[in-house]
Amino acid sequence: MTVFAQFSPRLRLIEKPTVDAAADIEDGSLDLVFIDANHTYEGCRDDILAWRPKLRAGGWLTGHDYFPEAFPGVVKAVDELVPGFKLEGDYVWMAQI
Ligand SMILES: C[S@@+](CC[C@H](N)C(=O)[O-])C[C@H]1O[C@@H](n2cnc3c(N)ncnc32)[C@H](O)[C@@H]1O
Repeated sequence: MTVFAQFSPRLRLIEKPTVDAAADIEDGSLDLVFIDANHTYEGCRDDILAWRPKLRAGGWLTGHDYFPEAFPGVVKAVDELVPGFKLEGDYVWMAQI
């Protein structure tokens, strides 16, 4: 908890499922979102839909495990919902909003 406290209020631990946690965050308030929780299609899709509105204009929507053999659901959700994304190292996907 000391680590979190020293960066407060910019760092805040929210112990909730990801979609529920998004409701605690103001729309348009974040510079970057990194999605790496539920790796099913529905899980990744719901996280993208819940968290994208939290980004400011020019913010980065990113995530892990764009890895077709292991996580086809992540690939499907990102392909459908994140136009123009780029792939970086270690299966990281990212797009500027
Ligand atoms: C692939 S791990 C990645 C964790 C972290 N990003 C990292 O790199 O260490 C995914 C984690 O998200 C958790 N998780 C899965 N679905 C979740 C959800 N809907 N809400 C909150 N956490 C979730 C899992 O229990 C697991 O700990």
